[in-house]
Amino acid sequence: MVARLVVVSNRVALPTARKQAAGGLSIAVKAAMKGRTGVWFGWSGKVSENPPTQPQIIHRNKITFVVLDLSTADYQEYYSGYANRVLWPTLHYRVDLAEFTRTDFNGYVRVNQIFADNLSNIIQPEDIIWVHDYHLMPLARELRRRGHENPIGFFLHIPYPPPDILTTLPHHEESLGTLSYYDLVGFQTDNDRDNFGRYIVMLGGTEGRDGTSFTLDRRTIRVGTFPVGIETAIFARLARNAERSAFTRSVEESLGGKRLLVGADRLDYTKGLPNRMEGFAQFLLAYPEWHGRATLLQITPTSRADIQEYADMNRAVSELVGRINGHHGEADWTPIRYVNRTYSRTELAGIYRVADIALVTPLRDGMNLVAKEYVAAQDPEDPGVLILSQFAGAAADLDAALLINPHEVEAFPGAIKHALEMSLEERRERHGLMYKKIQEVDIHRWARRFLAALAQTQKAGLLEGIRSFLSAFA
Ligand code: G6P
Repeated sequence: MVARLVVVSNRVALPTARKQAAGGLSIAVKAAMKGRTGVWFGWSGKVSENPPTQPQIIHRNKITFVVLDLSTADYQEYYSGYANRVLWPTLHYRVDLAEFTRTDFNGYVRVNQIFADNLSNIIQPEDIIWVHDYHLMPLARELRRRGHENPIGFFLHIPYPPPDILTTLPHHEESLGTLSYYDLVGFQTDNDRDNFGRYIVMLGGTEGRDGTSFTLDRRTIRVGTFPVGIETAIFARLARNAERSAFTRSVEESLGGKRLLVGADRLDYTKGLPNRMEGFAQFLLAYPEWHGRATLLQITPTSRADIQEYADMNRAVSELVGRINGHHGEADWTPIRYVNRTYSRTELAGIYRVADIALVTPLRDGMNLVAKEYVAAQDPEDPGVLILSQFAGAAADLDAALLINPHEVEAFPGAIKHALEMSLEERRERHGLMYKKIQEVDIHRWARRFLAALAQTQKAGLLEGIRSFLSAFA
């Protein structure tokens, strides 16, 4: 019998959804599941007072989607509360924004238990289970408690900071520490992986001889770095075709020959939007010869809108954009076009293709797939320039980008000017290096390497079992 892959994540890219689900996770997992037989389990995206206890099931090709609605309390405590008001800021190094409450923490554990109860009805002994992201750290412990012995892997899509930051979280052992129940824990970068190792050692764990595993409370946890990629060739083709679409042409025509800078980020304080807007304003101040000749299109769909920090950000960024446009704009030129809506993959691919520069400048980001998609979308003969934050996980792969520290607003003007005036030769060279990299570390390699490493944990576990069995008779 073929082992099924059971993927579990809070956000599920349902085939019936009208809009593309937000964030890199849904894009990555969707691509990784292509052609595989399996189940994708998670939240339906719906909230109600009394949600049905039975999940909704949708079959599409070889994938069965199994989704649950959340109750209002679950949504507030688990999703908005502990996951997004505590874990999200803490893991993005924003301890100052974390708002811990015991009620939210209990809600977090409760939803993980509800997920585990429902999964228990689905999981078969030969299934491989792959859990994604910070919403579901305690899930392996809950599944083990329910008697499941399947290989269970976990991948963290967002950063993992050093122990000094992690330990600011009250009762961190009860959330972060539960990652030790997984057979394999994967990270975006070596830095994230090493921080996890330090944390496990701090909890009293020991490092294995080869540095790729740790033992804590007699459980072995293998660790690894698996940088998320994209479907490089497919995205490149999409962008080539999208360039000729009516939509892309109308965007281009609306620019009237002005150079285009693009930013595309979910509205989030980790994305550093105020710094980017201020940085662009400083560019306009420093280089008035570019007035009326360059436009920044910032595409920013909103999510988590009922969390206070997000509502505050929305207002702050809108005001900032208004101020900059009011100050520098002309009757026939709006320096920044700020758009709070979701575009389809094809529309985005077309915009990336015709943009001269992408500004991907988060203050902290697990990977950032926009950076990779922008590179894939370029015409290799006449490519645009990527300005990338050194604090995005993607910087490890894309070091041929113009790397900047987004905390220094004054770093933007020079980088933007350099990008706008860069010679064709330098653009081609940088793009060539980056394209080669994203071809190598694409999304299929990510899934393949993770699942192979997870399968290895079983073999290694068997060997360890045999060794300890034999040593009992020695
Ligand atoms: C990030 C997270 C994902 C999350 C996405 C969108 O990419 O790593 O887990 O799904 O943001 O956020 P949302 O809260 O709308 O799911």
